[in-house]
Amino acid sequence: MKAFEQAKIGGIILANRFVRSATWEGMATEKSFCTPELTQLLVRLAKGGVGLIISSHSTVSPEGQAGLRQVGIWSDAFIPKLKAMTDLVHEARSKIVMQINHAGCRADTSLTGEVSMGPMLWENEDGTFCREMERSDIRATVEAFSAAARRAQIAGFDGVQVHAAHGYLLSSYLSPYFNKRRDEYGGTVENRARFLLEVLQSIFAAVGSKFPVLVKMNAADFLEGGLTATDMVQTAMLLEKAGVAAIELSGGTSLSGKCIPSRRGRLSPEEEVYYKEEAKQFKTKVSMPLILVGGIRTFAVAENLLQENICDFISLCRPLIREPGLINRWKSGDISPATCLSDNLCYRPIREGKGVYCLTEEREKGVK
Ligand SMILES: Cc1cc2nc3c(=O)[nH]c(=O)nc-3n(C[C@H](O)[C@H](O)[C@H](O)COP(=O)(O)O)c2cc1C
Repeated sequence: MKAFEQAKIGGIILANRFVRSATWEGMATEKSFCTPELTQLLVRLAKGGVGLIISSHSTVSPEGQAGLRQVGIWSDAFIPKLKAMTDLVHEARSKIVMQINHAGCRADTSLTGEVSMGPMLWENEDGTFCREMERSDIRATVEAFSAAARRAQIAGFDGVQVHAAHGYLLSSYLSPYFNKRRDEYGGTVENRARFLLEVLQSIFAAVGSKFPVLVKMNAADFLEGGLTATDMVQTAMLLEKAGVAAIELSGGTSLSGKCIPSRRGRLSPEEEVYYKEEAKQFKTKVSMPLILVGGIRTFAVAENLLQENICDFISLCRPLIREPGLINRWKSGDISPATCLSDNLCYRPIREGKGVYCLTEEREKGVK
């Protein structure tokens, strides 16, 4: 079975082709330090058989914080606790990459206490305003990303994943819906990708060319006038040329209606994969490894995606919240589908500051 073959991303040797997609656990301290609770969750995932864990989006600067109890990586002070965590994940025989992010207009201003910033002046859904970034803001953010990547390297992560999906800062620059700048950071695909490419260049200068740098990006925004699959393929080609080790394809933004990144509702196995068509388009032009996330719930579907070369790695988020041991379950021969209902109730405890768990499972057990 291809899913359980050893595989490589950049220099990282993985025990299998299953990836835990980045998941904001809401388990850091209020000051964004890694906690024993978060460490235990990641070790449970490692012991559950996941080949590669992608950490929750960790904020590269305080003003880029998206949510409560989010991990921070803007200061060296975060390194010791993160190092203790990556050591334990490695002992449990998995690999871990840190996702690094700046939330842009989607920063939670009630937490940051600052006006958020993005490609242009923007009114958010909650009526708050996001200011247009100056070039000095762009330069400072590029520096923040590369300093964050260097800290992740020192903290023992096997690589970093730059978050350029879901409408956060770098994603909003890629998208003509959010980015209507008239300077060299707006307009053509190349211009919209410029900020991300500057971030990548700066990261490589900080961590060296051997440290794997991955990117998560949207297959499409599913917004009128947003990033299309054709733009995505052209952008991915630029990222490949820049030296990126792998792309994880996701999609949507908080404004994309039914096509938000974590779509609600279970699909039949025939319809399970959200971005299958976009993945096929990616594969016609790009040869770096493709990690595919979104709605995958059945082992046979995962195995087929790999056998048909639609993608190279299978990424799961919500199923592993409910079943951290899912991959070992499938490996043992019990290949019944993931029990996750994709009802998105897992967001509720995170937003209440309690840290992630499957609320549906707790209710089924009659505990809560
Ligand atoms: C509770 C929760 C937290 C998430 N946090 C992140 C995150 O930190 N970074 C990210 O790129 N995506 C995040 N996502 C999106 C997932 O990584 C994934 O792209 C999406 O849920 C679709 O995959 P799934 O159908 O396997 O859940 C999150 C999703 C959920 C449900």
